[in-house]
Amino acid sequence: MKNVEIYEKLAKRYDIATKVVSLGIEEIWRKIFIKHIKKYVKDGILLDVASATGDMAKQLDFSKMILLDPSKEMNKIASKKLQNKDIIFIEDFAENAIIPQKVDLITAFMAVRNFDDLDKGIQNLDKYLKPQGYFAIVELTKSDNILFKLSMFYMSKIVPIIGGIITGEYESYKKFDKMIKNIRDEDILKNFKNYKIIEHKRLFPPIASMMILQKVKNAK
Ligand SMILES: C[S@@+](CC[C@H](N)C(=O)[O-])C[C@H]1O[C@@H](n2cnc3c(N)ncnc32)[C@H](O)[C@@H]1O
Repeated sequence: MKNVEIYEKLAKRYDIATKVVSLGIEEIWRKIFIKHIKKYVKDGILLDVASATGDMAKQLDFSKMILLDPSKEMNKIASKKLQNKDIIFIEDFAENAIIPQKVDLITAFMAVRNFDDLDKGIQNLDKYLKPQGYFAIVELTKSDNILFKLSMFYMSKIVPIIGGIITGEYESYKKFDKMIKNIRDEDILKNFKNYKIIEHKRLFPPIASMMILQKVKNAK
């Protein structure tokens, strides 16, 4: 579970660095993601996985929110951003975390590629989603599109330079490149046998996919 050490170092400048290196695209994706989620779930209990600095929880603003992230520094920043909200912070990995109650919605925005064990992480989280609850994902996933190849070049060569200047963590950004394990949508979707695919689309630029899945009624 080593990549969390990288996030610990980046936490303080994570928000600004992400906005700059993603050229603002990540925030546009977040807005699209939230708009789509709100068609299906307007409120209830949210579990935001790999919650980082808490932006997803802040913008979704559910009545009750559980934020899961193994990084102490990220959780510290999120708790400052989300004062006065009914929130439980869980400092743990998706693969092992114990969530105190079942939830209506799980969000995983730029999250699952960070799991050391993708299948174990998703299967553990699934235990805490109510039947008919929603599991919503945005992730960088591999495609044969030329824009995907160009973006990978940008991420491996340009991002470490810009991210390094903003955070002073050039080496950490270089490691990120190795972390992007080129997962495909199917690697994620194969873990959702007890789910209906409600939405599955490529975002623009086509380097990420959005998947919204609903757990079937009679699932445990
Ligand atoms: C790219 S950030 C996530 C962005 C965030 N979801 C958002 O909405 O802005 C990745 C986060 O994954 C966390 N992380 C790393 N390994 C993890 C794991 N095994 N389970 C859950 N979170 C993990 C890191 O600590 C980091 O905060």
